[in-house]
Amino acid sequence: MTVRSVVLGCGSYLPQRILTNAELATRVDTSDEWIVQRTGIRQRHIAAEGECTSHLAINAARAALADAAVDAQSIDLIVLATSTPDNTFPATAVAVQNGLEIHHGAAFDLQAVCSGFIFALATADNFLRTGAYKRALVIGAETFSRILDWNDRGTCVLFGDGAGAIVLEAQTQPGKSSDRGVLTTHLRSDGRHKSKLYVDGGPSSTQTVGHLRMEGREVFKHAVGMITDVIVDAFNATGLTADDLDWFVPHQANKRIIDASAHKLHIVPQKVVLTVDQHGNTSAASIPLALSVAVKDGRIKKGDLVLLEAMGGGFTWGSALLRW
Ligand SMILES: CC(C)(COP(=O)(O)OP(=O)(O)OC[C@H]1O[C@@H](n2cnc3c(N)ncnc32)[C@H](O)[C@@H]1OP(=O)(O)O)[C@@H](O)C(=O)NCCC(=O)NCCS
Repeated sequence: MTVRSVVLGCGSYLPQRILTNAELATRVDTSDEWIVQRTGIRQRHIAAEGECTSHLAINAARAALADAAVDAQSIDLIVLATSTPDNTFPATAVAVQNGLEIHHGAAFDLQAVCSGFIFALATADNFLRTGAYKRALVIGAETFSRILDWNDRGTCVLFGDGAGAIVLEAQTQPGKSSDRGVLTTHLRSDGRHKSKLYVDGGPSSTQTVGHLRMEGREVFKHAVGMITDVIVDAFNATGLTADDLDWFVPHQANKRIIDASAHKLHIVPQKVVLTVDQHGNTSAASIPLALSVAVKDGRIKKGDLVLLEAMGGGFTWGSALLRW
């Protein structure tokens, strides 16, 4: 027997305002055709004035708690992945905890940019498996619209705002690859690439928030190799293969990266959950947003084997294999 972190429910929240490629083309020298062809993105959601990352996160958390049919008071751990916190400190997770009227347990932020949700999931999983906590909210929430340079067509077309969350519970399982829950997680970082995707501001360096800067080609060049390496690690750790998968839910940065990764791993397109067309790249929020879509429309069901992966600034990258 072993303790596994089992998903009890998931939920998401998207700001009301939708920004289409056509509208973007009125602001910068770009076109719907260019954006769709290079990225697969058709639209993204943008937070309203005064709508912060914590607001999106609280809404997503409430939806996840409702889906799990558990009370907020039963949550004793909140791990929130974000690169766009409400404030430099305290952690946005604390604002979420307070918003949910939870005053016990622990809540903290985790920063791994677009890999944030995988890093947060792995962190919560490890805390649950040690017995330190019983029930966790793992949240990815971002307002990337606040750190974009809206005059830089190479980056402003790519990102969007949103939040997604899952509820995890420590449960005793037989200890087999047929168990429900998180079966394995693999995290990696390599700071040699830190200047390829970064924000040119921060409290200690410039005392400003800064804007996102990216060498898009460099990111693209490394993405598929890094993603597929950690997925192979997940298969090797569990003895499972691409054929065993029910769903592949990748970080939604770019359709071309997703297609190339799935192709390299022999994952058929029918098993790939794609939301990048509707949401753009919502960084740490993209995976739980995609999970939420696929659960709501009936694709992901209890007992399904689900593979998650992400790659982002740092570089950071990681995978998680779980049975829903
Ligand atoms: C950003 C990305 C779509 C750019 O596509 P690309 O094919 O690499 O394009 P390049 O950056 O080489 O630019 C090619 C041309 O398109 C232009 N261009 C860039 N953005 C454009 C836009 N939004 N609209 C129209 N043209 C654009 C460039 O200026 C360049 O023009 P030039 O040839 O006249 O100099 C692509 O590199 C990418 O997806 N990278 C990964 C980004 C990513 O996923 N980041 C997040 C990881 S978590």
